[in-house]
Amino acid sequence: MNRTIEQIREDFPILSQNINDRPLVYLDNAATTHRPKQVIEAIERYYKEINANPHRGAHKLSILSTEAYEGTREKVRAFINANSTKEIVFTKNTTEALNLIAYSYGMNFIEEGDEIAISIAEHHSNLIPWQQVASAKKAILKYLYTDSEGRIPCSELRDKIGPKTKLVSIAHMTNTFGIINPVKEIINYAHDMGALVILDGAQSVPHRKVDVQKLDADFLVFSGHKMMAPMGVGVLYGKEEILEKMPPFLYGGDMIEYVWEQKSTFAELPFKLEAGTQNVEAVVGLGAAIDYINETGIENIEAIEEELTTYALDKLKEIPYVTLYGPKDTLNRGGVISFNIEGVHPHDVASIVDTYGVALRAGHHCAQPFMKYMKINSTSRISFYFYNTKEEIDVFIESIKNVRKWLGYEPK
Ligand code: ALA
Repeated sequence: MNRTIEQIREDFPILSQNINDRPLVYLDNAATTHRPKQVIEAIERYYKEINANPHRGAHKLSILSTEAYEGTREKVRAFINANSTKEIVFTKNTTEALNLIAYSYGMNFIEEGDEIAISIAEHHSNLIPWQQVASAKKAILKYLYTDSEGRIPCSELRDKIGPKTKLVSIAHMTNTFGIINPVKEIINYAHDMGALVILDGAQSVPHRKVDVQKLDADFLVFSGHKMMAPMGVGVLYGKEEILEKMPPFLYGGDMIEYVWEQKSTFAELPFKLEAGTQNVEAVVGLGAAIDYINETGIENIEAIEEELTTYALDKLKEIPYVTLYGPKDTLNRGGVISFNIEGVHPHDVASIVDTYGVALRAGHHCAQPFMKYMKINSTSRISFYFYNTKEEIDVFIESIKNVRKWLGYEPK
């Protein structure tokens, strides 16, 4: 990487803000990341110079808008190494992409008695759609349970994925404990059993190289806003032959070939799955975000976050009243750390550290079945992006050391 951390941070206007009279320490990147000025300026340029409805007009601005929109599709294709831009569908977010698969594939190709396998550590967005499909189709929703650190043992694959399994949907990296699941092994095993695999890449794609052809993933879904792009754009990757046989999810403008009074035929991929005017500004922002990641180097991003995670884990381990969840090292785990402070509710932790300018997330992290399985009500969670620093982790640790003091606990 040819740029210093100071130069990188200068690209993110929000990071130089004070919050509660303290410099912002933003450690909630698993919820959403910040945007560099390159992304903000790309959107501003789009509105100042281009804004028009893509695919719909022969006028110059519509042509430029189409080029901007389709240009990002090609950037996404290259970023995840898909075979063709026909395999890249823009959605609103990861949740919509998963719903698209559930409604278009699940409701049409899952039959009574079929099995769908997910892990107990899935985010609700990769859980509730499968409850709906299973219930509507009289299919069986099976859970791969984790060990006490949140990892899926191999025995769970053998026990839960078999010839009746038609779909496996799994987080590449969990949003609770930051576990990187062994997705290549899961995909190989599921394919041997004849099942398709959906990877929820919301927490992995922004942070490490994900190559859909190397992994042989059938579907990959992720959100723009967790990788510096605006909210309101997500990506569904699907193998062309699978997307080809899926019916449209939404019907209306821009997704048709020809419309008669009583029937219609539909556009080719990917347009048949993108009904109505899309969030073009967000797509343009996603293109600029991918450029930024490519210039920084995804391997550099992964390495910086690994160093930050090791540093934070080591500091947290030294505090006697902190319970850490998940693995205590960075082997196959990303930059997400869940913890609790003895005797203090995570919402109190979040409010107290906020007075020190520290932003973290507290709660069940949209993973209630996992929390229940782990016998935890809620956790505090910090999550990194490559613009974070060890100095920020020091501020966070100091703020954590003050939480129990604030609440009148004796020193330990
Ligand atoms: N899914 C996001 C998170 O885990 C919102 O925080």
